[in-house]
Amino acid sequence: MRDVAIVGVGMTRFGELWETSLRDLFVQAASDALHSARADHLEAVFIGNMSAGQFVGQEHLGPLLVDHLGMVGVAAGRVESACASGGLALRTAFVEVASGMSDLVMAAGVEKMTDTADVTEVLATASDQELEAYHGITFPGLYAMIARAHMEKHGTTEEDLSWVSVKNHRHGALNPKAQFPAEVTLEAVMRSSMVADPLRLLHCSPVSDGAAAVLLCPLDQAKQYTDRPVRIRASGLATGTMALADRKDIAVLDAVQRSAQRAFTMAGLTPADMHLAEVHDCFAIAEICCVEALGLVAPGTGKSAARTGETALGGRIPVNTSGGLKAKGHPVGATGIAQAIELVEQLRGEAGARQVRGARIGLAQNMGGSGASSVVHIFEGS
Ligand code: COA
Repeated sequence: MRDVAIVGVGMTRFGELWETSLRDLFVQAASDALHSARADHLEAVFIGNMSAGQFVGQEHLGPLLVDHLGMVGVAAGRVESACASGGLALRTAFVEVASGMSDLVMAAGVEKMTDTADVTEVLATASDQELEAYHGITFPGLYAMIARAHMEKHGTTEEDLSWVSVKNHRHGALNPKAQFPAEVTLEAVMRSSMVADPLRLLHCSPVSDGAAAVLLCPLDQAKQYTDRPVRIRASGLATGTMALADRKDIAVLDAVQRSAQRAFTMAGLTPADMHLAEVHDCFAIAEICCVEALGLVAPGTGKSAARTGETALGGRIPVNTSGGLKAKGHPVGATGIAQAIELVEQLRGEAGARQVRGARIGLAQNMGGSGASSVVHIFEGS
């Protein structure tokens, strides 16, 4: 396998972008990525997207989106793994370059969620239809059950959940591309309206539109495109059971553990080598479970990591410096690529007010559904 680097990035603002269509969101992000690498051609494009068919009635995204990019003929296709679609698109592009199949490849992600009133139902199609969705449960409900299990097992409190939101909004306030670039107080989180007990509005990621794109090439060709390539050291992909009912312990995200183990083994690194991480905080409890499953904190200690500042900017292992899904937004198919972009900017020293000083190695973890799929990538700056 060849070593692979990210050499260009592009991303729209995330939010309720009424004025911009799905195709225009993609074209904005993809053009910016090409421009940032001074590249005028591509060999392949992999587009992470959960459900454009249900959100905006559009399937067959590969040819449509490269046509609108002005690149008819380029190999292109959609990649799907629910909210981990972006992460899976990145892995697919990584393998395409590492294998020697192509030399310049785009991994992109796009989702336009705010055009439909049925967002919750569309998202619920990524849960087990027979065991979960048909009975009326939605993603906030599934994560609420995970939260209750974590509370029961580890004594996690509503206040612990709320500190995750306070931290991520504090980070998001420093990110001009975030959907909610504003701080929130602990009291505001704890008094926000109840969505699925114990999860309140400000414990949830929002419904978002947005797109993100990165360009990959072999590391030994990277200098053609940028002075500051970021190497992808490893990619780990894993699955777990779809239905929570089939898990031994729903407070443990075993697909996240497996994907992390695979990535750490491939990189020859350990969680202690990470300088920062972007993790899948679709709900506050998800960040707590993910930092534990990734080994960034000891099992059962995730509940206090945001409150003590361990996972905040300036802390031992800053998590979700972008604002995470909570504050930056969660256009589901784009999220995995946006996480990679935060890592690239951090490892290049270009993250401005969010910069983690001395950051050289970091990981991104993107998750589908209630943890049934997980992708971890490890990045290293040059
Ligand atoms: N965080 C902060 N503010 C939010 C928000 C969020 N997650 N969601 C909505 N808001 C704000 C809106 O901007 C709006 O503010 P305004 O009145 O100042 O304009 C207000 O709250 C009400 O928004 P609305 O769209 O009516 O909220 P809603 O009740 O329809 O939806 C949720 C709120 C939490 C149910 C929705 O955001 C949601 O379903 N999130 C989870 C998405 C999800 O499951 N993703 C997949 C994960 S696996």
